[in-house]
Amino acid sequence: MFRSILLGSVVFGVIGFIGFLIYAHEPAIDPITQDNPQGFDPETVEKGRILAAAGYCSTCHTAEGGAPFAGNLPMATGFGTIYSTNITPDVETGIGAWSQVAFQRAMHEGVDREGQHLFPAFPYNHFTKMTDEDVDAIYAFIMTDVDPVPSVQKENGLPFPLNLRFLQAGWKLLFVDSGVYQADASESDAWNRGAYLVEGVTHCGACHTPRNALGAEREDDRFGGAEVEQWIAPALTAANPSPVPWTAAAFAEFIETGSAQLHGIAAGPMSPVVHAGLRELSEDDLNAIGVYLADQDGAHDSDAEVAEIVNASLAEGQPDKSYRMELGERLYATTCAACHYNVEQIVLGRPDLGINSATRFSEPDNLIHVILNGVTSPEGIPGVVMPSFRTAMSDEEVAAIAAYLRASRTDEAAWPELSQKVSTIRAEATASE
Ligand code: HEC
Ligand code: HEC
Ligand code: HEC
Repeated sequence: MFRSILLGSVVFGVIGFIGFLIYAHEPAIDPITQDNPQGFDPETVEKGRILAAAGYCSTCHTAEGGAPFAGNLPMATGFGTIYSTNITPDVETGIGAWSQVAFQRAMHEGVDREGQHLFPAFPYNHFTKMTDEDVDAIYAFIMTDVDPVPSVQKENGLPFPLNLRFLQAGWKLLFVDSGVYQADASESDAWNRGAYLVEGVTHCGACHTPRNALGAEREDDRFGGAEVEQWIAPALTAANPSPVPWTAAAFAEFIETGSAQLHGIAAGPMSPVVHAGLRELSEDDLNAIGVYLADQDGAHDSDAEVAEIVNASLAEGQPDKSYRMELGERLYATTCAACHYNVEQIVLGRPDLGINSATRFSEPDNLIHVILNGVTSPEGIPGVVMPSFRTAMSDEEVAAIAAYLRASRTDEAAWPELSQKVSTIRAEATASE
């Protein structure tokens, strides 16, 4: 009894496995020959160039210092390192022998010309949303304008059995929603255009959407923020931590220029996304991306709300009366305290000036000399200097610091006519030079 169940499940498993192999099988597509070069019209090639830039194909397909599009950029995935492929039109090692149909299948289904499944480090789960026309334009651009360069893809570092390409068919079944983007009739044209670009060629979610244990983007937390290459790709939803909501205009400004006035700049892995060519999209396309994303974070018409938050924050940052120090205290804090402050141990003889006799003498001369001329190595501790503030400060300013130190650090009577004194000492020193 037990044996027959066991046998039954083994047989069932084997049949299932064979079924899966049949399912996973993809035929090779015949190579094309380069005897009659394919002619593409210049407009299509130019359109393809812009789309390739917006999808920053070259960022992933170019190794450091390597030829553009020739591949072998190492990409650390949670499972092992994968190298990008050579997508120059080199016949032997690149995609020179790929027909347009083979290229379409790679972009839409993640299968190479020979029928091998590709790993999702190649974001075909997004490129599948692109129309044939747009994919063909990229093909035309690569075949026409990219120089063929021989370069063989390095062996990837995925452990067995993850390195078995046919298993990717199962991953696709679970996680890839293939097919061209379908417009949502209840939304505006701009929204749909933005969705098409974001979900497709620009694949923002590849970094901004967190992934599940099997490395697939989590549909239930789209644009929820994720870690990429030790950077945080922030949430592009209402969960974004900025106190100022990201409006459509702010998104458009950010992806066009790499910075948004009320937010920050595009650094780290976001930098090539903008600078490799997202900005080459038309103004309308950039705005459309803004419209779509602002709908994801709920800030689509919140210009008034933004103004309110910014104004409140500016008001908060205004110095109030207690914050405004008098001149001497402020100058001490900004020009002297970087060096003269108290810590548990006196470091290199420059603590706060409360215990220094220069602040306690009956005359302010020594203090004024030091501020005007600084302390050079031969005079003081070897290797330790204090800069001169002669040109940086007026007589009134030097006097204000001296008066402030005298009043706040000692119980001695105030020095009279300080400004005058500074002026005299300044002139003496100049005359003796
Ligand atoms: C996030 C990085 C990344 C981006 C962006 C990217 N690719 Fe790739 N691509 C890869 C990796 C990695 C592979 C190899 C996958 C594998 O070995 O299974 C690959 C494979 C391919 C292949 C299959 C080539 C072959 O010889 O099997 C094609 C075609 C391709 N990419 C085209 C493109 C185009 C066109 C773009 C821009 C629209 C693009 N890729 C953008 C990472 C990327
Ligand atoms: C290769 C990964 C990657 C891709 C692809 C990517 N981003 Fe980013 N993005 C990041 C990272 C990392 C940051 C954080 C950069 C920083 O702190 O300067 C970021 C920051 C941002 C920010 C600023 C958020 C904030 O709160 O400061 C916006 C907006 C943004 N990305 C939008 C986009 C859009 C729109 C797309 C698609 C067109 C996109 N990103 C594609 C990685 C990526
Ligand atoms: C870049 C660091 C630095 C800054 C800024 C600086 N000092 Fe100094 N100061 C020193 C050092 C170092 C010494 C000790 C030099 C020595 O003894 O060799 C010193 C010594 C002094 C002394 C003691 C001189 C003596 O004869 O004992 C006074 C007084 C003084 N500084 C006042 C000031 C005042 C006032 C300011 C601001 C206008 C200021 N310092 C800014 C580094 C600095």
